[in-house]
Amino acid sequence: MKIKDLKYERNNALAEKARRLIPGGAHTYSKGDDQFPANAPKVIDRGFGCTLWDVDGNEFTDLAMSLGTVILGHAYEPVLEAVRKEITRGVNFCRPSIIEGELAELLVDIIPSAEMVKFGKNGSDAVTAAVKLARAYTGWKYVARCQDDAFNAIHDWFIGSTVLTRGVPEEVQALTLKFKYNDLDSCQRLFDQYPGQIACFLLEPLSSDPPRDGFLEKLKAMCERNGALLIFDEVVSGFRFALGGAQELVGVVPHLSAFGKAMANGFSTSALVGQAEFMRIGGIDHDQERVFLLSTTHGGETHSLAAAIATIKEIRRHGIIDHFWSMGQALMDGVRSTARDVGAEKYIDVVGYSVKPGFVYRDETGKASMVARTLFLQETVSRGLLMPYVVPSYAHTKETVDFALECIRDALVVMKNAAEGPGMASAVRGEIVKPVFRKFN
Ligand SMILES: Cc1ncc(COP(=O)(O)O)c(C=O)c1O
Repeated sequence: MKIKDLKYERNNALAEKARRLIPGGAHTYSKGDDQFPANAPKVIDRGFGCTLWDVDGNEFTDLAMSLGTVILGHAYEPVLEAVRKEITRGVNFCRPSIIEGELAELLVDIIPSAEMVKFGKNGSDAVTAAVKLARAYTGWKYVARCQDDAFNAIHDWFIGSTVLTRGVPEEVQALTLKFKYNDLDSCQRLFDQYPGQIACFLLEPLSSDPPRDGFLEKLKAMCERNGALLIFDEVVSGFRFALGGAQELVGVVPHLSAFGKAMANGFSTSALVGQAEFMRIGGIDHDQERVFLLSTTHGGETHSLAAAIATIKEIRRHGIIDHFWSMGQALMDGVRSTARDVGAEKYIDVVGYSVKPGFVYRDETGKASMVARTLFLQETVSRGLLMPYVVPSYAHTKETVDFALECIRDALVVMKNAAEGPGMASAVRGEIVKPVFRKFN
């Protein structure tokens, strides 16, 4: 397959300016220069469907779809049409707009745990609001989160439980406890160690490993026995594993859950949803002490809510959830068989659910490796494919998957030749990519 003649002049100039003016040069750490190989596009000009053009006019097929938010495709017309209609009517008012109630009704209809809904602008706010509500409802201070989740929120209760503790007081760090997915004993140990003190157990219900032996049902029962709330972080799984989130698929109804990402095809909206018994204490129709729950200036911004309604309608109209499962499966199967064909199985593992495929890149010693990851990304980028991670979208077709597999085949051959020759590190041009969660740059 032909290597592209990529140009970088404007990319480099604009990225250099961004790094001077914006800490990290981007507004999400996972978009930063340290996450991509040196030949990756640095600044995107525009996107359509699953094609991106950078500021030098280089064209790429996009498998990442903006951190998984753009589930229908970039510049997807039916969503844009709904947004255009809404912005001409005014985008925010001093009282709620009609559309807030409309979207709330729709979410209550499709999400099993939703009896009440509160909107925000990002997933972190919705997850953190769930934690706040659990603490307020129970009166307890500890939060237990799943140590296998890569990320739940930008706020201190979560970040303080990672290696990036700078700026988070030790007292705050000490309030977040960790349990292991599929390990009920690790949950029970926390209840034994902190009796009557844990407000909630929070986790992504489906992330990489499938739940075993009724883990989620048993965790819910354990929470209820101990007076804690079960919170599902559905920021990634919502509108993807099933329209009503992973909770619809697994049939376990959490007390509270948080949605975001794919909800509005890239427009900024998120939702805390939950059972009325808990949600209502954030309202004005009770006589208890008040709880300040997710009150934001922009939460009711009309065109983002219109984008969410249009996105949900499109998912329903076209049966798009099935499309995610089948496109993801085609890619996963294709990568496995391509790796076998070229004798490179030991350099790539294909893991996870097909609605959210994961890849582990291995070096010549068989270790999961950032060098191997960098080389893979470098070689796919140089053939016009952007796959820092893969999030299936309605914009991805069989042709997209075929093209991706051609790029991947070549990348795996380069990895194998390097591994069996001078070593993968010698084939990497530029810096090795790094994990976001690391103590020092
Ligand atoms: C599982 C999960 N929860 C929460 C969040 C936070 O969402 P946001 O970046 O919209 O605040 C993310 C973001 O990547 C996530 O992956």
